[in-house]
Amino acid sequence: MKVLIATEKPFAAVAVDGMRKVIEEAGAELVLLEKYTDRKDLLAAVADVDALIIRSDKVDGEVLAAAPKLKVVVRAGAGYDNVDLEAATERGVCVQNTPGQNSNAVAELVFGLAVMMCRNMYNGTSGSELKDKTLGIQAFGQVGRNVARIARGFEMNVSALDPYCPDNVMEDAGVSPVHSVKELYRNNKVVSIHIPATPETRKSIGYELIMSMPKGGLLINTARKEVIDEEGLIKALDERADIKYAADVAPDRAAEIKERFGDRVFFTPKKMGAQTSEANINAGIAAARQVISFLTTGEERFRVNK
Ligand code: 3PG
Repeated sequence: MKVLIATEKPFAAVAVDGMRKVIEEAGAELVLLEKYTDRKDLLAAVADVDALIIRSDKVDGEVLAAAPKLKVVVRAGAGYDNVDLEAATERGVCVQNTPGQNSNAVAELVFGLAVMMCRNMYNGTSGSELKDKTLGIQAFGQVGRNVARIARGFEMNVSALDPYCPDNVMEDAGVSPVHSVKELYRNNKVVSIHIPATPETRKSIGYELIMSMPKGGLLINTARKEVIDEEGLIKALDERADIKYAADVAPDRAAEIKERFGDRVFFTPKKMGAQTSEANINAGIAAARQVISFLTTGEERFRVNK
C-alpha cells in the first residue's frame, strides 16, 4: 500500500514524522511530495498510490484520472472545495476531511488579525480595543466556536449566524443567535467569516453587507476568498473610509486593493490560518490514521462524498 502526502504548502517536519510513523507501522509505504510548483509532478506522483493526503492542493478529474489505484483522498483540514467530489464519486474514490483538527489555529489568527487592524498596523497612531466591542461570527462550526471561546477572554459581545446550528448550542457558549446575515453585518463592529466556499456562498458577501456595518467596521476573512464579491468589497472600501478588511485568503486583486487602501487592508502572503506545528500535527496525523483505517477496515466516518 502506497500513501502519498502531496502538499504544495508543507506540514511542519514534526507532523510528517508522526504521519510517517502511523503509515509505516501499518506496513504501508509513505511517498512525500512537498513544495511542488508544477502540477505535472503531482500527476506523476499519484500514478501508483492507493491513498492521497493533501491540504489545499487541487484534486480534480485530471488528477483522479492519473491515479488508477487511488481509493481514498484525505484532505488534512476542514474545507474540501479543492476536491472534485463528483469526479471522485464516479471513480469510486472516498474523500474525507479532518474536521476540527486545525480550528484553534485559525481562530487564534482571527484575533492576531483583529488586534493588528484595531491598532492601525502598529503604525504609532492611536487605535482601539476589542473589549466591549460587538463580534459577529458567520458560521458556528469548529472554527467559529473557537473564535467565540477566545472572544470571551477579550470580553467582547458575541453573536453568531448559523442556520445549521441550534440556538441553544450558541446560547450555551454565551453567544447570541442571529437569524439573518443582514442583522449580523448591521449590528457587529467586527465580523469574522467562517463559511465554506460552496455554490451558495460564492460572492455572497459584497457591497451591501459591508456598507451596512457600523462605523469603524472590521471584516475578517480566514475562510475562503471565493465568498467575497471583490467588486463590492472594493466599492465599499472606496466609499467608507472607516471600514477595514483583513484576510488570510488574499483576494485576486490583492495588490491593487493594497495599493488603493493601504493600512486599512491586510492580506497574509500565503494561507497561514492552519500553519502551526500543532495544527499540522493534529490534522496530519488524523489524516494518516483515517487513511490507514479506511484501507484496512473500510472505516469512512469522515467521508464527505456520500
Ligand atoms: C482548512 O480548510 O482546513 C484551512 O483552510 C486550512 O487550509 P491549509 O491546510 O491549506 O492551510
